[in-house]
Amino acid sequence: MSKIADLFKVEGYGVAVTGGASGIGLGYAEAMASNGARVTLLDVNAERVAAEVKRLAEAGMDVRGAVVDVTDHKALDAAIDEAAQTYGKLDVVFANAGIDPGVGFVGAWAGAARPRLEEGMIENYADERWQRVIDINLTGVFATVRAAARHMRPRKSGRIIVTTSLADVRIEPAIGAAYMAAKAGAAIFARNMALELAAYGVNVNAISPGYIITNIGDGHALNPEEQKAVAKMVPQHRVGWPRDFYGIALFLASHASDYITGQEIVVDGGWGLGFAD
Ligand SMILES: NC(=O)c1ccc[n+]([C@@H]2O[C@H](COP(=O)([O-])OP(=O)(O)OC[C@H]3O[C@@H](n4cnc5c(N)ncnc54)[C@H](O)[C@@H]3O)[C@@H](O)[C@H]2O)c1
Repeated sequence: MSKIADLFKVEGYGVAVTGGASGIGLGYAEAMASNGARVTLLDVNAERVAAEVKRLAEAGMDVRGAVVDVTDHKALDAAIDEAAQTYGKLDVVFANAGIDPGVGFVGAWAGAARPRLEEGMIENYADERWQRVIDINLTGVFATVRAAARHMRPRKSGRIIVTTSLADVRIEPAIGAAYMAAKAGAAIFARNMALELAAYGVNVNAISPGYIITNIGDGHALNPEEQKAVAKMVPQHRVGWPRDFYGIALFLASHASDYITGQEIVVDGGWGLGFAD
C-alpha cells in the first residue's frame, strides 16, 4: 500500500471557491493552494479578490481570481468555465458564498441581551432580506453545483463541497429565519446531488460550521466581547477560525474521502451537542 498521506494529495488539482476571498472560503482556498492545487477565488468583493490573490501569489501559490456574484448565473457559469479551461479540468468546487440573515442574528447568538431582536422578528423581517439570503445561500449553491457538474460528470470525476451551517441542524430563536431555511435547503440539496452524481465519480459533501471568526455580518464576530460570550456556550470553550477548516477541506477534496458522499460534517467545537457551562 502506498503512503496514507498520499491519499490527501491535491497537487495540480483545479479548484474554484465561491466566496473565496474571505473567511472560511479563503481558508479552503489556502488549504488547497498551499498543498499545490491551482485555485480560483470567485467573489463579489473586488477589493478582497485583488488583495488575497496578490497575497497568496506572493507566497508562491497558484491562485487567480474573478469578481462574480453567485446570483448572476450567467456570469457564474462563465467564471467556472474559465477556471476549468485554465486548468484543463475542474477537480474541486466549494459552493461557499453566503451572507448573514441580518438583524436578530447576533443578539441571539451572544446569548444575553438581544438589543436588535425586535427588528429581526418575523413580523418585521423584510421581503428583500429574505430574498437576498435565499438567492445567495441557497440558489447560489444550486447554480454553483450545476456549473461544476457540467465539467465533472463528463470526466466522471470531481468533488463538490457545500458550506452549510450549524444553523440548519440546531434551531436557535431568531437566528434569521431566511438563513436557517436557506442552509437547511442547501444541506438537503447537497444530499440530493450526492445521489444524482454518485455513479459518475462526483462526490458531494457539506461542511457545517458553528461560530467562526470571519467578516460575515459586517464582521460582528471580530468583536472580542462577542467571541468571549459565544466561547462560553461552546463545549470546547473556544470559537472557531478559518484555519480550523484546513484539514476537513483537504480530506473532502482528496482521494481520502473516495467512499464518502452525501454527508454533512459539523465543525463547531461541540456546540451542536448542547450548551456548555
Ligand atoms: N462565520 C460563521 O460563523 C459561519 C457559520 C456557519 C456558516 N457559515 C457560512 O460560511 C460561508 C462563508 O462565510 P464566512 O463566515 O466565511 O463569511 P465572510 O463574509 O468572511 O466570507 C464570505 C465571502 O462571500 C462573499 N460573497 C457574499 N455574497 C456573495 C455573492 N453574492 N457572490 C459571490 N460572493 C459573495 C463575500 O464577499 C465574502 O468574501 C457562508 O456560506 C456562511 O453562511 C459561516
